[in-house]
Amino acid sequence: MAEIVVTGGNALAGNVSVLGAKNAVLKQQVAALLAPGKHMLENVPHIADVELMSEVLSFVGATCELEDHTLVIDVPDDITPEAPLDLVRQMRASILVLGPLLARCGQVRVALPGGDDLGARPIDMHIEGLRQLGVDFELRHGVLEGHVADGLVGAEVHLDFPSVGATENILLAAVLARGETVIENAAREPELEDLAVFLNAMGANISGAGTSTIRVLGVPTLNAATHRVVPDRIEAGTYAVAAAITAGEVVVSGCVPDHLRMELRKLQDAGCRVEAGEDWVRVLGPKRPNAVNFATLPFPGFATDLHPQVVALLAVADGTSVITENVYEARFKYIGELARLGADISTDWQHAVIRGVPFLSGCPVMAPDIRAGAALILAALRAEGYSTISAAEHVDRGYEGFVDKLAALGADIEYHA
Ligand code: UD1
Repeated sequence: MAEIVVTGGNALAGNVSVLGAKNAVLKQQVAALLAPGKHMLENVPHIADVELMSEVLSFVGATCELEDHTLVIDVPDDITPEAPLDLVRQMRASILVLGPLLARCGQVRVALPGGDDLGARPIDMHIEGLRQLGVDFELRHGVLEGHVADGLVGAEVHLDFPSVGATENILLAAVLARGETVIENAAREPELEDLAVFLNAMGANISGAGTSTIRVLGVPTLNAATHRVVPDRIEAGTYAVAAAITAGEVVVSGCVPDHLRMELRKLQDAGCRVEAGEDWVRVLGPKRPNAVNFATLPFPGFATDLHPQVVALLAVADGTSVITENVYEARFKYIGELARLGADISTDWQHAVIRGVPFLSGCPVMAPDIRAGAALILAALRAEGYSTISAAEHVDRGYEGFVDKLAALGADIEYHA
């Protein structure tokens, strides 16, 4: 297990830049399967999840090469419509091959992902949406098998909840379906909008991405394309919180502050000074944050992927904060680890009550997932003394050079592989 060692107390200062969004790249990697040829994605981070998705593509028959943050994806004419259990288990986003493989091959075999650290996480909306486009599904021995008898046909799909993954899987199939598909109550996340930009560059006809109603006019074929991936708002938000929690002053560049409107507003409420330009944001942290309430919601609501980091900040607030997690059923697993550092937090179903304490004190903790791992590192930056964060490889799934970037901002932090 990789371990990160932090000695807390340094106020971070300086400039840090962010790369393309993990949650956009992964979808664009599978989208490339829709058209043979050489695709190019720019601004791609070197992170473990991109490597895992490259393995999924390799199983399907495509190759991915990442050099200098440019990912070249070479997709052959013939591909294998299958994703195996070990890869799907390691990364749920693998399930997004369903749409492209059904569209390209008329059939698919994908191991059904189980639950994970964030809860049961079913894919019923993915399946139901694709069914409406003409797919027959059967579950055999833990493998989801899909067949399209007579080509995909556009349909009107109403989602119960604006699921990011379900919207993407339906979109990825609809681009090559006959006729028009309308997705109602679609997710509006910037990464989904960016997927539509890439698909349109490939020759798709999508309008309304970024709003609740997405319209897709199917086209017979798509072509390979080049695209620059949208900046990672969660990476940017994490460095903003790093400035806030250490009472530091950090400029995060290469980001889109507009994608962090709600989260930056909450940082201001917590007492941070926030200034933003078109592609940068400066955050000046207070000596001690104010208590703030928030509730996670689909975009443009407060991002669930920034919830643990902001809870780490509120752990040292002057006052009591109440937060509500509306997206996942089990996102509070890291609270026990934060409590080891001295945080005073109680949870009840999807609510957490955070009674701010003046000091945290360093100790060994374990990262349960990517974002909670980042949150524990941020808390350790504030804590007195020495902390070790084990299972640090979780953090490598979502952040390129997290430790190096924090060290360059003045943190006392080391990575032990
Ligand atoms: C994506 C992001 C993840 C982020 C989440 C919400 C990627 C790779 N991951 O995950 O980092 O936290 O969006 O912004 O982009 N659900 C169902 N049935 C379904 C689909 C979803 O019940 O068919 C539930 C999930 O269990 C979860 C909630 O809906 O509780 C949100 O899921 P969804 O928006 O689909 O998130 P992901 O696409 O999995």
